[in-house]
Amino acid sequence: MTGLPTPVIIDCDTGVDDALALLFAVRHPGLELRAVTCVAGNADVDQVVRNTLTVLEQAGAPEVPVARGAERPLLEPVRTAHHVHGRDGMGDLGLPAPGRRPADVDAVTLLRREILAAPRPVTLIPTAPLTNIALLLRTHPEVTRNIERIVFMGGAVATGNATAVAEFNVWHDPEAAAILLTAGVPITMYGLDVFQRVIVPADDVRRLRASGEPGAVLAGRLLAHRDPVTGEEDPPGGLGDAGAVCAVADPAGLTTELLPVEVNLAPGPARGQTVVDRRPRPGEAELHGEAREQPLVDVALDVDVERYVKLYLATVER
Ligand code: BDR
Ligand code: CA
Repeated sequence: MTGLPTPVIIDCDTGVDDALALLFAVRHPGLELRAVTCVAGNADVDQVVRNTLTVLEQAGAPEVPVARGAERPLLEPVRTAHHVHGRDGMGDLGLPAPGRRPADVDAVTLLRREILAAPRPVTLIPTAPLTNIALLLRTHPEVTRNIERIVFMGGAVATGNATAVAEFNVWHDPEAAAILLTAGVPITMYGLDVFQRVIVPADDVRRLRASGEPGAVLAGRLLAHRDPVTGEEDPPGGLGDAGAVCAVADPAGLTTELLPVEVNLAPGPARGQTVVDRRPRPGEAELHGEAREQPLVDVALDVDVERYVKLYLATVER
């Protein structure tokens, strides 16, 4: 432990909960947010760029470089999630347009530049489909020499959300996720199993909204965002992607196990599933010498919900 902040880069599809992640990252003293790269996912990539720039301005961090990345997955079409994140991808809160433009380089170029220029190995935090990261790894594989770890929000051990078994970010671009898993650097999978559990109580959401400080107010309004189907008046709010950033700032709050993980790339109902092998004993393929090598990933199996809620609130209310 050097006491120096951990250099991090977030690759996102802002996105209500990506915005919560950005607000946390710029305010946590143990993190140094070096860049943010944008990819199509929750919204089209140009909307994601606008949302990201606006959030960083509201958070008081307008200097963090932002770059536009892939406008569609490697093979799949774009399938946005406006039904969850609103028409503007940010809960239709009527936020102002950003006052600046993104960097004049693309996301892959910015990622390469910032990773290699960082004084200490970078932790990459993708909270979106993995298209930019796959393109980076294939275009500039040398970046892995200055990557400490990749902590990605994606996948699921148990149940999916985009389909019965597949989580949205992996389902959106399964080939890219498969490339990520074989990056050859330590990887943590912050999947739906923990993602869905970290909920900020309604009282805290109310306090943030009433605080008067622009970044904290925005966090409160985003947490209070509800998809139109449930539409509660005064709801609690999920940290979502922000939980993955909490896991970088405070890894002790997450219980992980190093397990083989494979992305199902076959067409059909299981496409995009992260198949996590939790068997305690060798299976048939191993016994008969037919096993294929699978990447080992630190899979999040449990999370200290109270700890991350406290951490999130203390950080955005600083
Ligand atoms: C993921 O999908 C998006 O809506 C969230 O931002 C998160 O990245 C969860 O499946
Ligand atoms: Ca996201």
